[in-house]
Amino acid sequence: MLETTEWRGAEVVVESLSRVYGRTPKTVALWNVNLAVRSGEWVAIVGPSGSGKSTLMNLLGLMDRPTRGRYWLNGRDVTGLSDGERAHLRNRLIGFVYQSFHLIPTLTACENVELPLVYRGVPRRRRRKLAEEWLTRMGLGDRLHYRPTALSGGQQQRVALARALVGNPSLLLADEPTGNLDERNTREIRSLLGELRNHGQTIILITHDLHLAQSADRVVRLHDGRITDETAERTGYAH
Ligand SMILES: Nc1ncnc2c1ncn2[C@@H]1O[C@H](COP(=O)(O)OP(=O)(O)OP(=O)(O)O)[C@@H](O)[C@H]1O
Ligand SMILES: [Mg+2]
Repeated sequence: MLETTEWRGAEVVVESLSRVYGRTPKTVALWNVNLAVRSGEWVAIVGPSGSGKSTLMNLLGLMDRPTRGRYWLNGRDVTGLSDGERAHLRNRLIGFVYQSFHLIPTLTACENVELPLVYRGVPRRRRRKLAEEWLTRMGLGDRLHYRPTALSGGQQQRVALARALVGNPSLLLADEPTGNLDERNTREIRSLLGELRNHGQTIILITHDLHLAQSADRVVRLHDGRITDETAERTGYAH
């Protein structure tokens, strides 16, 4: 592990992370990536299509394993864990938001948000209470029992955000969370993320949205599977 002070105690540390898909032909989706994210930091990952952003996100979210390299989450080496251990950690430590919301259409907003707690064995009443609290915080207190098809895109994404956060994850990961939203809903998600950040939530998100990237504490730029640039404190990022 790299022995620099800025990495000590970081929430997310990856070292020499690579992901190669297939054999012939093989695709080097990610190559030799080093990254540390402190607790409470908001990092935006940007880069052209195919540059490895989702690949990196899937590795950080314990959805996939690196071909090479190591990953420490909250100080624990999670590189070699079994599928079961990874699923357990994912449920406890990580919240996900995707571009296409990924809500379950047959469940209400409330039931969707309760799901991570069902897997955790949280009793029904407590689950319901927490789900209602988070949906209300997302401005959806009057939509608790609507199904996703009866909600606008912006509302669906706020349900997805509530679902990602209801289990109090230490890390929130978002892969183009505003990719399917109009400007007004994008602004709303941006301000919700800013609020979360101000409450100490660690956030790593992929975005093509200039303003969203500029709202982050730091912008990491990927190109051809490598980090080409890191920009601190809302400066210098442009498409
Ligand atoms: N399961 C897979 N099998 C083979 N190649 C893959 C797989 N997933 C991704 N790739 C390849 O890896 C590279 C990086 O893909 P990735 O999805 O990480 O890009 P991205 O930066 O998220 O792009 P976008 O902005 O379009 O979402 C691409 O060349 C892609 O074709
Ligand atoms: Mg992607």
